[in-house]
Amino acid sequence: MSDSKKEIYSFDQKHLLGLEDYSAEDILYVLEQAKTFREVLDRPVPKIPTLRDKTIVNLFYENSTRTRLSFELAQKRMGADVVNFSAGTSSTKKGESLKDTIRNISSMKIDMVVSRHESPGVPHFLTRCVDASIINAGDGAHEHPTQALLDMFTMQQTYPELKGKKIAIIGDISHSRVVRSNIIGLKKVGADVVVCGPKSFMPVHVESLGAEVSYNLDETLAWCDIAMALRIQMERVGGGTDLFPSLREYHETFGIKMEHLEKYPNFTVMHPGPINRGVEMQSDVADSDRAVILNQVTNGVAVRMAVLYLLSGGSRI
Ligand code: NCD
Repeated sequence: MSDSKKEIYSFDQKHLLGLEDYSAEDILYVLEQAKTFREVLDRPVPKIPTLRDKTIVNLFYENSTRTRLSFELAQKRMGADVVNFSAGTSSTKKGESLKDTIRNISSMKIDMVVSRHESPGVPHFLTRCVDASIINAGDGAHEHPTQALLDMFTMQQTYPELKGKKIAIIGDISHSRVVRSNIIGLKKVGADVVVCGPKSFMPVHVESLGAEVSYNLDETLAWCDIAMALRIQMERVGGGTDLFPSLREYHETFGIKMEHLEKYPNFTVMHPGPINRGVEMQSDVADSDRAVILNQVTNGVAVRMAVLYLLSGGSRI
């Protein structure tokens, strides 16, 4: 890296449990390192074998498409030995506890665990059971730090300086781990965050995280530089369709539409996926040139490569 200040920055985190535990400097350092990995991905042979002596377990107790493939690709691009664990096809079905599962996996001499689980706090629990580095790939509605990092990386591609940028996050704020990690990370680097959605999807103390609240989509879109829409987390709503009258009405009030893109020519559209087309946004909005949703997916691999690299003890490339 050319900037000498960055070369001497000492990143000394062992885990990535949440952005709560990372300083603004840690976050910006990961994003800076991810730029190099993003360039690697554009090479004819997109491989950099810096993890060839590492063994990583992907421990997924909850469904995932993007996050899981992205981690696995990042690990393989870096030459790590990778083993995958899915709750649905494991001895969890035979009654084995999480603690026993992780202790058994750990006896196989692993260096890192990537964990996704429906219960908040599972990654923290894992740090007390094994010696490996733990990366949180989503714990219930708590945090999803690598998603927020890849979102911030994608925002930086349009706005290299995030300080003072206006970020709107729209949708099911109560049940989203993506929004929590994004608010925490974005506030740390000095961005302004507004969360927008129905009152029934607004957690009581959301302001305590530093975000402002809006119930008006038009006002929010007129204000923001970036609008990130979120899926309604049906699996966490607990059948509570009383939280909103109908998907059609939700879309009417909080869905991003082509008319918004015309009316407010400034904002960029993001979404962590999976998208419910016709609910969070019109299908044409997702496919428009104002959306950077697939860039988020590509950037996710680079950001996860940077996280794996730094947690495995690499300090700079
Ligand atoms: C998010 C998640 O799992 O929290 N998705 C993802 O990781 N790409 C958001 C969601 O499921 O809606």
